[in-house]
Amino acid sequence: ATKYLKDYQATSYLVDTIDLKFEIKDTFVIVTSKTKYQQNGASNSLELAGSAELKSVIIDGNELTDYKLADDKLSLNNLSANFTLEIVTHVDAFNNKSCMGLYASNGNLFTQCEPEGFRKITYYLDRPDVMAKFTTTIIGDKDLYPVLLSNGNKISEKTLANNQIEVIWEDPYKKPSYLFALVAGKFAFIDDTFTTKSGRKVKLEVYSEAESINQCQHCLESLKRAMEWDEKRFNLEYDLDVYMIVASGDFNMGAMENKGLNIFNTKYVLAETKTATDTDFINVEAVVGHEYFHNWTGNRVTCRDWFQLSLKEGLTVFRDQEFTADLHSRTVKRIQDVKNLRQMQFTEDASPLSHPVRPESYMEINNFYTMTVYEKGAEVVRMYQTILDKEGFNRGLALYFERHDGYAVTCEDFCKAMADANKIDLSQFMLWYSQSGTPHLAISDHYNEATKEYSITFKQSIPNNPTAKAMLIPVSIGLILDNGKNIIPDIKNHNTIVRDNEVILLLNEAENTFIFGGISEKPTPSILRGFSAPVIINYAYDEKQLYTLARHDNDSFNRWEALQSIYKTEINRIYHSESPDKFEINQNITKIISELLNDATIDPALKALSINLPAFAELSISYPNTDVKKLVGSIKRLKSAIANGLETQLLAVYKDNQTVSYDFNDAGKRALKNTLLGYLMQGNNTGKSIELVAAQYKNADNMTDKIGALSAINDIDSPVRHQLLDNFAQEYANYPLVMDKWFSLQSQSQLPDTIDNVANLLNHPSFDKENPNKLYSLVRAFTANPIYFNTDAGYNFIAEEIIRIDSFNPGVAGRIANGFSSIANYESKYQTLVKPQLQKIMAKENLSRDVYEIISKTLQQI
Ligand code: ARG
Ligand code: ZN
Repeated sequence: ATKYLKDYQATSYLVDTIDLKFEIKDTFVIVTSKTKYQQNGASNSLELAGSAELKSVIIDGNELTDYKLADDKLSLNNLSANFTLEIVTHVDAFNNKSCMGLYASNGNLFTQCEPEGFRKITYYLDRPDVMAKFTTTIIGDKDLYPVLLSNGNKISEKTLANNQIEVIWEDPYKKPSYLFALVAGKFAFIDDTFTTKSGRKVKLEVYSEAESINQCQHCLESLKRAMEWDEKRFNLEYDLDVYMIVASGDFNMGAMENKGLNIFNTKYVLAETKTATDTDFINVEAVVGHEYFHNWTGNRVTCRDWFQLSLKEGLTVFRDQEFTADLHSRTVKRIQDVKNLRQMQFTEDASPLSHPVRPESYMEINNFYTMTVYEKGAEVVRMYQTILDKEGFNRGLALYFERHDGYAVTCEDFCKAMADANKIDLSQFMLWYSQSGTPHLAISDHYNEATKEYSITFKQSIPNNPTAKAMLIPVSIGLILDNGKNIIPDIKNHNTIVRDNEVILLLNEAENTFIFGGISEKPTPSILRGFSAPVIINYAYDEKQLYTLARHDNDSFNRWEALQSIYKTEINRIYHSESPDKFEINQNITKIISELLNDATIDPALKALSINLPAFAELSISYPNTDVKKLVGSIKRLKSAIANGLETQLLAVYKDNQTVSYDFNDAGKRALKNTLLGYLMQGNNTGKSIELVAAQYKNADNMTDKIGALSAINDIDSPVRHQLLDNFAQEYANYPLVMDKWFSLQSQSQLPDTIDNVANLLNHPSFDKENPNKLYSLVRAFTANPIYFNTDAGYNFIAEEIIRIDSFNPGVAGRIANGFSSIANYESKYQTLVKPQLQKIMAKENLSRDVYEIISKTLQQI
């Protein structure tokens, strides 16, 4: 059944308090919940969501025998205005492989309640607008479960008979059920303290299995940095006496912001030089920040219903992006985020799964933890800041907390706080939440020699959403003269913001024209500086203009962007050429890359990003009916041509960026060096490059360089590749997260035995066919291998895996099923191949709602 935003209704009852008791037995867990309900409106009936084995229902002390239990709902009628409901359930936690609700991972117990996991534990008003005070009692065997954790503060701990211990936790803050958490098991921990700006001393604790506790320090340090940053940047302070993070090896997503007790995928906790890459270090810090920032944006102020998911996720992603930008390189972070947005969100928004930032309907809410809700949602929040400036944005956020602290609210409430705090009308801006599809801007300009006026016209439209209304789009712009001078133009329109070195045009109609005066010559426009809006711009730059931007734009993002446009133009030329094998590279490209590599003023991390070519996924959306092989081949041809044209220099710069001993601050050098190694490997001098790879691998004192070497040789059919992969597997057999990288590499390979190899790897001793991280690194990663996924055997392999996984973990199966959605934009031969596979999935008995929703929507456009 489909649920609709427009059908929202408050519940007939609200909850004051809930007391939970978990008794952990050998093969199951007994859960007793005692909930105080209070009428909210006229109805005296109540429907509680639940799917656990129901043992008893007691209302105000009287056992109920004639309750109605159907379709995972317990219906209660003729209730009093106030009553206490006591429910006992038996939870089959030890056989639960879905990683939702209460589940076991390597003998330890964890919960994941967002979005609708709490109903797998007990019968309750399992929705975010029902907020209550939770008290949690946990009883378990002292040897098996020495650590017993839940939200809030620990108020009692005692030993009972039969080697049992009992711990009681109380969370003073009202919260929805999705923020409930429990952890029980054997863990080691490290700790520290943080004193907040108003003097609260907070205990910080990071828990993991004993063998990985020595990899947790970076996580703990990241938490302290996040707490400090949120005080400085947003004046937001932590509100409990303890903050706990627990790592789980079985986790569907990245991490979960449960009040005071975050549960994390080990992938975002463990990080140590020998086993984690530079990217892993940054990701751990970002996710720790993300979950910490949710304490205000998500927990103190939460969502009224799940349609509003982006209210907390878009905002919190924006906050974590800013955290990383403030602590590291702002430009590098912005480029990485935009690349990710284009590769993952633009493609989603061009696919059968396209949906607005605030979806209007869903079958399974788990399917909406998407790039659109998270990353486009973050862009929407960023646009408020672009329009209002940092101070105005902070004023809006402060008003949002002043008005809504302790409540479950909507995206309108957020928009209204921003508007009211700044006394402006943002009603048109709400369209960003309701209109799906990526807006395109068709741009034309005119220079009037006589009046020295320059005018620029923007026509906005959403190609796959033709009835869309004109939106409010902030376009940051600069003008550059032929001599490379950036000018701050004198603007003649109302809908513009001029501040410091920035001019922002506010588009608000289907067509807007802006006029600049006092311009001495026809300038080159630098449009959408810093990627000020999540849109696609179409302006017919000529070659000279692109090189002007790439060399002289004051905006470092747009310098990078101009290079990307240069590469895209060249790839397009190859794609459409009659004889691509006779392709000769435009010498201006090798020239500008050469200049860039020689420029000592540019950060090596930025150099690495600047020579990275646009990815297949990003390009494919601008090639309707994509010929997959041809597009992959065109990118590869450009890469080889650059490698061959600049071989000597690439090699020299590679050598210059080698480092003697490990220092995290050399991450940029490693990024550049490894990018160059990837290039060299695509050139003609394969023998020499293989030697470089082997030497780098052998001498590496950190994981980044090992993975760099393996990635470079990953598409090369050489015995060295096999030797290194074997060596790696032996060395890291006991490091599951490191083995994930090994599986992932092989699944991405462009070598012809990839499909067979991937299928065989399912049975590798280090693989675990039920572990989400393993399934993502091998099976899901394969859906991003354009050449081999898009074959009969590739589609069949993924379809079979989805059917297998769906029976125990619909969440993971659904996320893998997403991989089919882009095929709707490929050449029809791919659609013909995939259709019977999708139909086969649809025919599976007891197919989950998760996979049903994704595959049925995909089939509608195939
Ligand atoms: N709220 C979490 C985060 O983004 C994500 C949890 C989603 N879990 C799920 N099973 N859908 O921080
Ligand atoms: Zn989040």
